[in-house]
Order: sequence, then C-alpha cells, then structure tokens
Amino acid sequence: MAQQPFLITFEGVDGSGKTTQLRAAAAQFRACGRQVLETAEPGGSVLGLEIRRILLDSGSRLTPQAELLLYTASRAQNIRELILPALAAGTLVLSDRFTDSTVAYQGYGRGLGAETVRELDALACGGLAPDVTVLLDLDPETALRRRAERNRMELEGPAFHQKVRAAYLEMAAREPERIRVIDGQGPAGTVAARVWDILKAYV
Ligand code: TYD
Repeated sequence: MAQQPFLITFEGVDGSGKTTQLRAAAAQFRACGRQVLETAEPGGSVLGLEIRRILLDSGSRLTPQAELLLYTASRAQNIRELILPALAAGTLVLSDRFTDSTVAYQGYGRGLGAETVRELDALACGGLAPDVTVLLDLDPETALRRRAERNRMELEGPAFHQKVRAAYLEMAAREPERIRVIDGQGPAGTVAARVWDILKAYV
C-alpha cells in the first residue's frame, strides 16, 4: 500500500482522453481493493461546480486574471472539502486536472507566468501536491477533433493549445519522476494499458 497522502492527477490538452483514462484507472484500483475518490477541476465540490459553470460558459467575458483566480478558488475549496478528508481516510484520490493545468493554461497559454500561478496556487493548495501525474500527450488538433462541443477554453485558436502542450512537456522534462508522459494516441484500451503499466505500482 502506498504512503499517505496519495494523490494522482491526470493532465493533458482538451480532448486528450484524460477523463476516460481516469475512469479506467479508478476501476482498476477498485478491482484491486482500493477505495478511490474521483474528482475533477474545475468542479468537485458544489461551489467548484458553480465556478466551473462561470469558467466554461462560452459567453463569459473573463479577464485572464479573473480566470486564474477562479480556477484557483475552485481548487482551494475542493482540496479542503473533498480531497484532504479522503486522503486522511486512506482513500486514493484521482483528480481530472490539478495545479499543472493552471500552470500550462493560465501561466503559459494566457501568458500570466508560471511563477505568478505557482505563488497563488501555493495559497490554494496549502502544501498539497500530486504524488504522481499522468500526462496524456497528444497533438491538440487531433485531440480537439475528438470533441463534438467546445467550451470557452476550447474555442481558443490552435496556437493557444500548442502553447499548452509545449508547457506540459517542458514541465514533465523538469519533473520526470512525478510527471509521467503517456502517448495519448490510439484506441482508449491501448492507452489505458499504457497508463496502468505506470499506475499499478501504486496499488
Ligand atoms: P476539463 O474539465 O478537462 O474539460 P472537459 O471535462 O470538458 O474535458 O477542463 C475544462 C477546461 O478548463 C479545459 O479547457 C482546461 C481548462 N483549465 C484551465 O484553463 N486551468 C485550470 O487550472 C484547469 C483546472 C482547467
């Protein structure tokens, strides 16, 4: 059994398949007898879901700074309301996006700077950081083609999503022990096998 706390996050550009892969990994962990909490950002708590609605509504006119503060607010609430109690009870927590999304999208994509994001995020997280991060890497254009409807972030042009992908890969190169890059191409089952190959060590 893994050391406490144990938080695994799933990251990637929009349409990279992280939600599907998170569900598959959660099922695998449960089949091995682990208690699992699945959560998502923005969202998770009731307040987080309200914030998510504002953030992803394609009609919202948010400034990049307001956007950053809302993503961080959702995380601060979700951590204290759901994640910390689950970790304290020995539950494995799988989060669909976390801090790395904010660094990639707001820090690099919106150009607010990784340092600004990390400072604010430290306040939101109070020291909680993912133990392992699964980065599903896929070309954003291929990834976005998989989606029928587009949210506010997905309406950004290809240059924005390329910046986000490059940011993720740069972050993974800096923290190769924590951020594990998985090739997101191919059928969901094939990708799930790649993901489980890494995660099975944490049962
Ligand atoms: P996501 O929930 O992954 O979308 P979906 O469930 O539709 O696949 O992510 C929602 C969007 O929010 C996505 O475009 C990425 C963006 N995002 C940020 O820009 N910053 C953040 O900190 C987070 C958590 C998400």
